[in-house]
Amino acid sequence: MEQLKTIDQRNVVNTFGKSKKLDWFTAENLERGLMGDILEIQKFSGRELRATLQSIFAGIQYEYRDEYKNTKNLFTDLHTFQDCFMRRFGNIKYFVREYGFPKTIPQRAFIFLSQLNELVKKDMKSIRLVEFGAAAGLLGSIFEYPEHYLQKFSRDLFWVNESKIPQTPHFEINYEGYDLHIIKTSLVPYFIWNDDHRERVENFITLARRPRHLKEEDLFKVLAREINSNELLDGVFFMTSFMLYQLSLEQKQEFLRLMQKCQARGATWLDLSRHHHDIPWLKSFSPGLVYNHNYFSVNGIPQKEIIEGSDDCKNWKDLDLSVGNY
Ligand SMILES: C[S@@+](CC[C@H](N)C(=O)[O-])C[C@H]1O[C@@H](n2cnc3c(N)ncnc32)[C@H](O)[C@@H]1O
Repeated sequence: MEQLKTIDQRNVVNTFGKSKKLDWFTAENLERGLMGDILEIQKFSGRELRATLQSIFAGIQYEYRDEYKNTKNLFTDLHTFQDCFMRRFGNIKYFVREYGFPKTIPQRAFIFLSQLNELVKKDMKSIRLVEFGAAAGLLGSIFEYPEHYLQKFSRDLFWVNESKIPQTPHFEINYEGYDLHIIKTSLVPYFIWNDDHRERVENFITLARRPRHLKEEDLFKVLAREINSNELLDGVFFMTSFMLYQLSLEQKQEFLRLMQKCQARGATWLDLSRHHHDIPWLKSFSPGLVYNHNYFSVNGIPQKEIIEGSDDCKNWKDLDLSVGNY
């Protein structure tokens, strides 16, 4: 029987079970027989444990989508979970490796629009917004037509706090999205657990137009091109939303170095990330930040805290932190 080696790993499993309100999904229960299989998938996919668990859940729902009307019933107890997990183990293993955890929620675009409204000067007519880790391009769909979504704000599509709906920007946004794998929009809902949120994202997907510029490319390749071009980067905004945690610590540090080079040429970097120990620019502001909460940063300085730390960004408050040493 495979045991988890660290307390951190046990916490990841237990917190994951709690977040889904599944009292049977605990490290102790899984160590009685399933942990070896979970760790095998983690090793095969090269993903973090939390992302592996999230993707296994999505993979199970995807695999049984035609057999069960409500795939949530597959998670009611350990026995049912074990049974459906093991019956399609091979497929689920490949699903996790292929798709990872591209959970994407379109309304995350709102906190970015709100910050852009604060940053973009009144006389600026247009900006270039480059998203790394764009997944299915859902945020980009909003950036391309902000007036459409902001002026006709719909509760059928979003669950953001009313007071946080940003003004329609006074500038045009030329959006470019990049991802290692642009996933099919039809796959996105399987990564969303909450039924109500899933339904609204499904509604969004049926209405949204795919951004014009959405490409499969590694962010480091795109950045190398920007840096080699020697052009000024005024009016260029790079953004990373719930994606840098997918990089190794060395890659995160390399990303920071490249961003600083771009900032020196006039670019601005906007980031939305969860405060875990290995996010260097957030770590440098501890203990001012709440561990496991999400923060919005401008050029590596946290500016907004997401209320309750949730990753659907439905509400946030401003912070006043100006000194960090990342
Ligand atoms: C959780 S999704 C984020 C989706 C979206 N930005 C949002 O906030 O809703 C993270 C994405 O980052 C992508 N990714 C990871 N490493 C990357 C890299 N080196 N270059 C480009 N994309 C990458 C993954 O493929 C995945 O689709």
